[in-house]
Amino acid sequence: MIVKVCGNKYKENITEVLTSKPDMLGFIFYGSSPRNVDKTLSPSDLETIPQYVVKTGVFVNEEISSICKTVRYYQLDMVQLHGYETPEFCKLLSDKGIKVIKSFHIDDMFDFAFTDKYSECAKYFLFDTRGNNYGGNGKKFDWGILNRYSGKVPFLLSGGITPEDHAEIKKIKHKMFAGIDLNSGFEDKPGIKDTGKIIHFLQEIKYSRMENRYSINDKGFYGEFGGAFIPEMLQRNIDELTECYHGILDDERFKKEFFTLLNDYAGRPSPLYFAPRLSARYGTRVFLKREDLNHTGSHKINNALGQVLLAERMGKKRIIAETGAGQHGVATATVCALKGLECIVYMGAVDVKRQAPNVERMRMLGATVVPVTNGNMTLKDATSEAIRDWIAHPLDTHYIIGSVVGPHPYPEMVTYFQSVISEEIQQQLVVKTGRDYPDAVIACVGGGSNAAGAFYKFIDNPEVKLYGAEGAGKGEDTPETAATMATGTTGILHGSRILLMQDDYGQITEPYSISAGLDYPGVGPLHSHLHKTGRATYIPVKDNEALEAAYTTTRLEGIIPALESAHAIAVLEKVKFNADQIVVVNLSGRGDKDMDTYIGRLKAKG
Ligand SMILES: Cc1ncc(COP(=O)(O)O)c(C=O)c1O
Repeated sequence: MIVKVCGNKYKENITEVLTSKPDMLGFIFYGSSPRNVDKTLSPSDLETIPQYVVKTGVFVNEEISSICKTVRYYQLDMVQLHGYETPEFCKLLSDKGIKVIKSFHIDDMFDFAFTDKYSECAKYFLFDTRGNNYGGNGKKFDWGILNRYSGKVPFLLSGGITPEDHAEIKKIKHKMFAGIDLNSGFEDKPGIKDTGKIIHFLQEIKYSRMENRYSINDKGFYGEFGGAFIPEMLQRNIDELTECYHGILDDERFKKEFFTLLNDYAGRPSPLYFAPRLSARYGTRVFLKREDLNHTGSHKINNALGQVLLAERMGKKRIIAETGAGQHGVATATVCALKGLECIVYMGAVDVKRQAPNVERMRMLGATVVPVTNGNMTLKDATSEAIRDWIAHPLDTHYIIGSVVGPHPYPEMVTYFQSVISEEIQQQLVVKTGRDYPDAVIACVGGGSNAAGAFYKFIDNPEVKLYGAEGAGKGEDTPETAATMATGTTGILHGSRILLMQDDYGQITEPYSISAGLDYPGVGPLHSHLHKTGRATYIPVKDNEALEAAYTTTRLEGIIPALESAHAIAVLEKVKFNADQIVVVNLSGRGDKDMDTYIGRLKAKG
């Protein structure tokens, strides 16, 4: 849900409001309003507002030339037209490249057919209460009336929303309901917002747990998948973790610490990059979500930061982790260095060899890397070994699982920490395209954490197609594959009921993929459920297809992707999108760790 905080007037107050992480800020350029910013804000005051916050100028029956001048002077991203501007007027502005929100004043008599004429020129509608003034009447209209709206333009709800309204707002299920506009109900006096009230309200509205068909139940099941199938020895740890995790969901201090680390330490938000040459090649609008630019080089840092804060709260001094590609190991070793905690990383001996640069990084960060020589010597075996360690050290140790796998609450918790990815995509798309959802999201799936994070905000929006790329190895119809969705059946692995690769006797089939991060015989319960219900489509991508995609991206965009992420890019070869569609590919990590493989293949090609 988009949150717009409108009627901001003073620089210091805006700095405070930004800590509530609004998606849009509104500035009123209307002389008769007590929140008019003409005399209180200069363009330089708006310069420090982060790029992903949409700066909206609110105008009432203003001349076009004056609007354009103000947009240029204050570097506004959108305008909100709050008077009796005609569709032709709005079109003139949108033809000039200015994105328009058109407001309508609603009462019981309002005929929503009136909005039709604006549907070509407005990015959003804003439904406000009809009152004596053009806006800021501080009154609500009957929100039941919204059901009469059947247009195609998403709308923001405005008019007298107060901190007590969160429960009523959550009940609005209209397909085009895109967000809320907060103003006088959250003020101490006109133009001075009470940030505490906004934050508290957003906790209820925005960060409340998923209330959709794909959410988890209280036993940790997504449909038939999930649960916590654990040895008795770990029950106390899991109970302790579940309690701690539920505690942080409503804890403002935790969120502040987590988001501060994400921003200042990990470097978030990661950019959403429009890739012009990939777009030209595939005949669609390709955006890359640049998780590769995070500190430590992948999305894994989001989850590692969240979990290390939990470990601190639980008073655990010893951290263990499993890793395949080494990215989760590096992220965990990093956060342990940051917090001064002991760190032990289990890694299959095959992966130790093929991801050598990451092994060196973990060691430099002070972690002990334990090569695992059981089974296939890859991610599954490393995970089993980490679970064994946890059983042996239940009191002082927290196990930072790196993906949306394992017993409840891990899949839900890791999804929650990774959901910042789609949260940002949504906000960034508004600025870049004027729409807060793409036509498709593509992400690679090992256990499924980067995909869960990239899908999360869009799971309940049927307009958004979701694609997961699996590591098919030499081919999903060969024994050398890690394509779980294509070949797997239901079973229990690492504490959770999921789709996994197994033989007729329930023995795990050893997986194979060129990419260490995708070389896992299962997928987390959320993805198992999304696959089973048909909500997401999972596409097997072979080693050579991923390698080709990596070379293509490197040559066309100057970006060397991780081998895992290259699987996601390869989906562009397999699914045809239209020229006007918006396709977001989650670039989960950078390719530094894979240079040996890339160079080896290039040499072999000659
Ligand atoms: C860069 C990168 N992408 C993707 C993955 C796959 O993990 P997940 O499916 O949990 O995102 C890994 C795992 O190590 C990785 O390092």
